Amino acid sequence: MTRLVLVGPPGAGKGTQAVALSEKLRIPHISTGDLFRAHVGEQTPLGQEAKRYLDSGELVPDSVTNEMVRERLAEPDAKVGFLLDGFPRNTKQADVLGEILGEVDTKLNAVIQLQVSEDVVVDRLLSRGRSDDTEEVIRRRQQIYVSETAPLLEYYADILVTVDGVGTVDEISARVLEALRDRT
Ligand code: AP5
Repeated sequence: MTRLVLVGPPGAGKGTQAVALSEKLRIPHISTGDLFRAHVGEQTPLGQEAKRYLDSGELVPDSVTNEMVRERLAEPDAKVGFLLDGFPRNTKQADVLGEILGEVDTKLNAVIQLQVSEDVVVDRLLSRGRSDDTEEVIRRRQQIYVSETAPLLEYYADILVTVDGVGTVDEISARVLEALRDRT
């Protein structure tokens, strides 16, 4: 079983790497950002609640996010393992993930940090142009990463794998797989 988390600032390439790695490792890619965007697109009650947070770059409240992830991890495909992208995003969410995994007597194998400078990520996001990729919202997402999410690097210090996130998509996936060799 391979249970992994990808961490990195907005634009680090988490989603891009998650697609490549989930295919290679044959585990589902679970992205909280994608789940929220799907709800927004379908205009579900959850999507209506999440939209204002996504639009401003703020985190969706933990109670909503944790419940959505708990339900997703209970689906059959996640029993073979998973690659979480964008969750947990703060230490309280990490505590909840630990509880969810503890209930089925499992643990994470590794947390992969994609390391990319702020200049590079801002350039990437401005040239992508998703609706939350305006300069102001990108700056807010960066601030939240530093204050809320970066503490996870310490929280997961024992299982943290840090990979240079600059290069081609294939080069970066190869670095991640090499770094995971003894951990999955
Ligand atoms: P989310 O969708 O997770 O956004 P993010 O963390 O800001 O990350 P991005 O999707 O912008 O970047 P990424 O690191 O995935 O990079 P990507 O591969 O896309 O979250 C969005 C919002 O949802 C949050 O702001 C929040 O409101 C809410 N949310 C989500 N999770 C939550 C949680 N747990 N709790 C509460 N709220 C939550 O790549 C970016 C660009 O770079 C692309 O154009 C890509 O093509 C390009 N690129 C990728 N790799 C490379 C490369 N190697 N070289 C050159 N370009 C590259």
